[in-house]
Amino acid sequence: MLMKMENILSVAYAISNADYMIAVTGAGISKESNVPTFRGEDGLWRNYDAMDLATPDAFRRNPALVWEWYTWRQRLIAECEPNPAHFTLASWEKRGLLKALITQNVDGLHIRAGSTNVYEVHGDIWALKCTSCKYKGSLSSPAIGIPTCPLCSNNLRPDVVWFGESLDRAALSKVYNELEHADVCLVIGTSALVQPAATFPLIVKQRGGQLIEINVEPTPLSSIVDFHISGKAGKILPTLDSILDQQ
Ligand code: APR
Repeated sequence: MLMKMENILSVAYAISNADYMIAVTGAGISKESNVPTFRGEDGLWRNYDAMDLATPDAFRRNPALVWEWYTWRQRLIAECEPNPAHFTLASWEKRGLLKALITQNVDGLHIRAGSTNVYEVHGDIWALKCTSCKYKGSLSSPAIGIPTCPLCSNNLRPDVVWFGESLDRAALSKVYNELEHADVCLVIGTSALVQPAATFPLIVKQRGGQLIEINVEPTPLSSIVDFHISGKAGKILPTLDSILDQQ
């Protein structure tokens, strides 16, 4: 873990002095809960790249294969528990330090850790929608085969946002409202490569807010953030929390 002491103290100071702090999180925050990330080695399932499976085209070509991948992810996620990074953010919300949490993750771990003002902008891995009619539903256990619509018998798909798809407009406008209020934004465990989520922190920055990035490696945002703390979210966030406790 690479943490400069003056850096971490300055970050703790920024957190405790924030009027309206929000967090934007990505797959890296769940990595220590054993949920695979999307890019790099983790992004491979059998010989398939996650990027090639999470698309509407892939589902049209081979729904059975895409569902097999989702069933695998659902089984994995069902076994996972929130880690200290999720719990720290939930406790900061309860203490009034964190006002909103915007996540690209579909694993539900923030909510399971106790966070309540959560925007799951890429959806929820247990949610379903019909490929043909308006039906929406949810699974209580990992899918078996290709689930079909109880109303029209067509294929159901995971109600998550795939590449090339738009985010829900109503949800997005609430997210922009949070971004416009924020004076500090934590950016945790995201490669900051996927739009529009990658621009969320930029909106805070453009309005004069501070950005604090926590990641095991640099990202395209690293050169413009106010603080980059290099290390695992599950270690850094509890460390920051213990510094806040001493203040
Ligand atoms: N702590 C902090 N950061 C970590 C950790 C950790 N323990 N482990 C990995 N990371 C970082 C990686 O360095 C990387 O920058 O987490 C990031 C994970 O990046 P991605 O896998 O690209 O995940 P994310 O940014 O959430 O992807 C965005 O892409 O495929 C789509 O819809 C999918 O929501 C996903 C979106």
